[in-house]
Amino acid sequence: MNEPVRVWRRLADTSVLLDGFHALKHAVRFGAEVPVAVTTDRRAALALADELAPDVRDTLAPLLAEVPEATYATLVARPHPTAVAALAVRPSREANLRALAHIPRTAPVVVLDNPRNLGNAGAVIRLAAGFGAAGVVTTGTLDPWHPTVVRGGAGLHFATAVERLDVDELPPGPVFALDPEGDDIRGLKLPDEAVLAFGSERSGLSAALRARADHLVSLPMRPQVSSYNLATSVAMTLFHWSATGGAPTSS
Ligand SMILES: C[S@@+](CC[C@H](N)C(=O)[O-])C[C@H]1O[C@@H](n2cnc3c(N)ncnc32)[C@H](O)[C@@H]1O
Repeated sequence: MNEPVRVWRRLADTSVLLDGFHALKHAVRFGAEVPVAVTTDRRAALALADELAPDVRDTLAPLLAEVPEATYATLVARPHPTAVAALAVRPSREANLRALAHIPRTAPVVVLDNPRNLGNAGAVIRLAAGFGAAGVVTTGTLDPWHPTVVRGGAGLHFATAVERLDVDELPPGPVFALDPEGDDIRGLKLPDEAVLAFGSERSGLSAALRARADHLVSLPMRPQVSSYNLATSVAMTLFHWSATGGAPTSS
């Protein structure tokens, strides 16, 4: 067994799987520690880096080890079209909790109250990264670092602070809870210190989250429609925050 494969097998159970070139690119860009990365075609992977991510090419070049297809197939559950996979060290909970508790903030924290769908959680982490949100907190049993969530987040867990907490442990800041019965978001400016909370796909906001909310806020929706999808609700709310003052930077 060659060295990268030995390292992979030693670390796989305790690491975050970065499945595909884009997940690896994002994770490296946002400072993830990546002890091992493999590909079945190193030249093709570095050509992708030249084309799509020249900023991280020099980091990826010494990291990417070529392995036979049969070996790659034993390391990942299903092959990715880019035939790239890597393992990253999960950031410590302490560091994430410190980041989430830090005040003043320049961008809101997103809270998903007992989300059920792993794909939604991944999409929300990708949104939070794109808008420069301070973090994504989940309540309930879903693990926001589940491999399916990480896949949906395209490696962008490393661009924000992602943790599971109880409702009574939420980060500081006024809680704006999104609910179709709330005040129309178009009349509001969401502060940078806002904690933006969204309910579960099945049952909406929990009683505990409602009790903790300072404001109930609604997204415009015609009467015959009962609700929007969770991730699209987060997208609209973060866009509203950015369009009314807070803004993702272009740097
Ligand atoms: C799929 S919806 C939940 C639907 C659920 N059946 C219910 O009873 O509320 C998931 C979450 O998205 C947010 N959401 C969806 N549509 C919304 C709207 N029109 N206004 C505000 N928030 C909305 C809320 O936070 C909601 O809890």
